Amino acid sequence: MEDMKDIQWFPGHMAKTRRMIQKSLPLVDAVAELLDARLPLSSRNPEFDRLTRRKPRLVILNKADMADPALTQQWVEYYQKRGAAVITADSKSGKGVKSFAPALRRLLAPQLAQYAAKGMKGRPIRVMILGIPNVGKSSLINRLAGGKRAKAEDRAGVTRTQQWIKVEGGVELLDTPGVLWPKLEDQEVACRLAFTGAVRDEILDTEALASRLLVFLHRQYPKALEERYRIAPDAAYTTGFDLLELLAKNRGMLLAGGVPNTERAAIALIDEFRAVKLGRITLERPGEQSQNGADHGEKTTDPSDGTV
Ligand code: G4P
Repeated sequence: MEDMKDIQWFPGHMAKTRRMIQKSLPLVDAVAELLDARLPLSSRNPEFDRLTRRKPRLVILNKADMADPALTQQWVEYYQKRGAAVITADSKSGKGVKSFAPALRRLLAPQLAQYAAKGMKGRPIRVMILGIPNVGKSSLINRLAGGKRAKAEDRAGVTRTQQWIKVEGGVELLDTPGVLWPKLEDQEVACRLAFTGAVRDEILDTEALASRLLVFLHRQYPKALEERYRIAPDAAYTTGFDLLELLAKNRGMLLAGGVPNTERAAIALIDEFRAVKLGRITLERPGEQSQNGADHGEKTTDPSDGTV
């Protein structure tokens, strides 16, 4: 699977994806949009609605095992209110993946009734999976297909056509998922994706990133910081960097002369956050401010409001 760390998003790549989606849309009954449950806004492609037009949509909040369960429930309702069918999944272990076909059947009930009326009862439901890199597209496809993935034909002289992977419940998946791009030009989106490791760390300074994450955690998940790093919920600080120094001191990460090794502390925090050692954390809340337009709510630029 393509990896965001290796992808340079350039207009040619986007145009290719747009063409692939346009070509495939008439062949499918629904689109399945895979999102990271920790980032249900920032892991969206800003053009998704325009790209997929009015196709019925199944939203899959993936990596739900890493996200805050209470917030995941709120996000389920958020996307349901916007007309999508929604499921939560952990495509690594396979938990929740069984709901995929039943959710599609419910979503497409009117169309399925029409097919049945026309005597096309056994007709498969065809679906295209879309999502940004690293969100779990190939893990989900492998889980759904249970190891019996269709092999792409690559013999010389044989035209490669789109293939369908049969999965449970009379559903067929287009064999290549659409790899969408996130809104990386939005600094907040880029930071949030960087916290989860979905984008290259080098884009942003590690200490700045960690400081930002600490401010968010101190406001939204103070218990996690207290339990893991002994940073008190009422710890006084002016900037996130003060919290990073505190973390370094509490962890005994000191340079010569007792200077806090903030670089080491930043790497430790980010690694441990990604490994879910601070607990299940969601970085975005419904109704919270964000820059991404109507579907993404509105935004404030002040990081002290508790958003990242
Ligand atoms: P992609 O096709 O959309 O690019 O994503 P892919 O399936 O390759 O998944 C990216 C990473 O996320 C993989 O980890 C994968 O195991 C992990 N992942 C996918 N879905 C879930 C999920 O629901 N929960 C959790 N916890 N992890 C998930 P990796 O570190 O790249 O590989 P590996 O450690 O699994 O070998």
